[in-house]
Amino acid sequence: MVALVPQPLHVDAGDGQLLLDGVRVRSEGLGGDAPALERLVAELVASGAGDLAGETPDGRSDDGARGVPVVLRIDPAAGPQGSTSAERYSLVADADGVVLAAPGRSGLLHAARTLRQLVEHAGEGPARLPHVVVHDAPRYPWRGLSVDVARHFFGPSALRAVVDVMASYKLNVLHLHLTDDQGWRIESPSRPELVRRSSGSDVSGGPGGHLSLDDFRALQEYAAERGVRVVPEIDLPGHVNAATHAYGELVPDGVPTDEYQGVEVGFSRLAYGLPATEPFVRDVLGDLARATVGEHVHVGGDEVHTMDADEYARFVVLAEQVVRDAGKTPVVWQEGAKAPLRPGTVVQYWDTNATDLEYLVEAARAGARVVLSPGNRVYLDMKYVEGFPLGLQWAGFVELRDSYDWEPEDVVDGLPAGAIEGVEAAVWTETLTSTDELFTMLLPRLSAVAEVAWSAPERKDWDDYRRRVAHEARSWRRDGVAFHPSAQVDW
Ligand code: ACM
Repeated sequence: MVALVPQPLHVDAGDGQLLLDGVRVRSEGLGGDAPALERLVAELVASGAGDLAGETPDGRSDDGARGVPVVLRIDPAAGPQGSTSAERYSLVADADGVVLAAPGRSGLLHAARTLRQLVEHAGEGPARLPHVVVHDAPRYPWRGLSVDVARHFFGPSALRAVVDVMASYKLNVLHLHLTDDQGWRIESPSRPELVRRSSGSDVSGGPGGHLSLDDFRALQEYAAERGVRVVPEIDLPGHVNAATHAYGELVPDGVPTDEYQGVEVGFSRLAYGLPATEPFVRDVLGDLARATVGEHVHVGGDEVHTMDADEYARFVVLAEQVVRDAGKTPVVWQEGAKAPLRPGTVVQYWDTNATDLEYLVEAARAGARVVLSPGNRVYLDMKYVEGFPLGLQWAGFVELRDSYDWEPEDVVDGLPAGAIEGVEAAVWTETLTSTDELFTMLLPRLSAVAEVAWSAPERKDWDDYRRRVAHEARSWRRDGVAFHPSAQVDW
């Protein structure tokens, strides 16, 4: 059986099957990347096959007599006809074995994820693989998940688990909301008081925590190996109580604000006119940009409820400039589009209660790129249903079908379709205190968002997705990943 999530562009299933008594992975044209990628692919296939076979195929076996050959091939001609996506790939499984082909490493990783699902879903008994041909490419280049590690801290091991699940659905951007009123979660070498004074608690009065620069570096490496890049966020000029608690010079009376463990938003702010403000913004965004491997740095800009429009715009322009000076591309929440943005800046739409989004449409027409995170679709901290024990409900209840059944081009009236860079889910952690709680909110909805971001609209179908996603529960259970068995699926 072929049941893939997200749904590929072209799938052509044959009649035969390969018995997977092992795999022998080898590569063509990969250069120095070859051993690491071969190992990763072998591990992926083996883990997919493991609980079906009752025995994990030995992915490292060089024994020519045993194991299905899996070839990783760099091939510019791979992928769907006409696709120019750098992430495109093809997969062919037939009596001779398996060939994964792509123009680059990211496509080969996607092909390996598809292979893993094919193995995993092949049915009961010994691990098998259906004969199949897949040609696939993503709809959008930005397929993300934002994780709030400020309200409750989630450290490296939880974030690696998040990366694993994201990568399994071909998501490629992990956005980390690193600072907020309740905590500053990233080491900033030029501002050591931030983590010293403002990372030791959370919304539940727990111990909090923060990522050291070494943690951050290691996480980016782990994610990059799996085809995921990290977009870190320092939220300015609101959501800054952790900063004003650490540095009293950032408030007009010079007295540090109290630690904050509540969940209300919009009260804290920087003050543009204070002499300490601009150096602070330059220091923390400069430190973050230097520590960031990927192209983007997010500067926040949401929910600044106590600042006039001119001062707010000056902050956005400053933050944008600092990030550009550091050689990165800035990202702002949707409100940031009220400032005169430079072309290429990414604007992240989120607030589905906001009316009159003409300013966002104008920014897109002027060259901003738009990432869509509509709260009533992809805010995965919203409760699934009334009475759900975790989550919030300001954007409404978000059942699995709500996360699945929407069209990005219809979200913002008048938004040019060509300005849409992608789709990003978000999970805010006011009510989430453990990895199990986090994953209960992410799954299954994250897989639905992944299909919105990856699959061609004509390949999407709710009833078909319901059938396919039911198979995913097997790997979540096996891997010990929590999920919510939504009543909308026959698990
Ligand atoms: C947001 O949810 N305040 C971006």
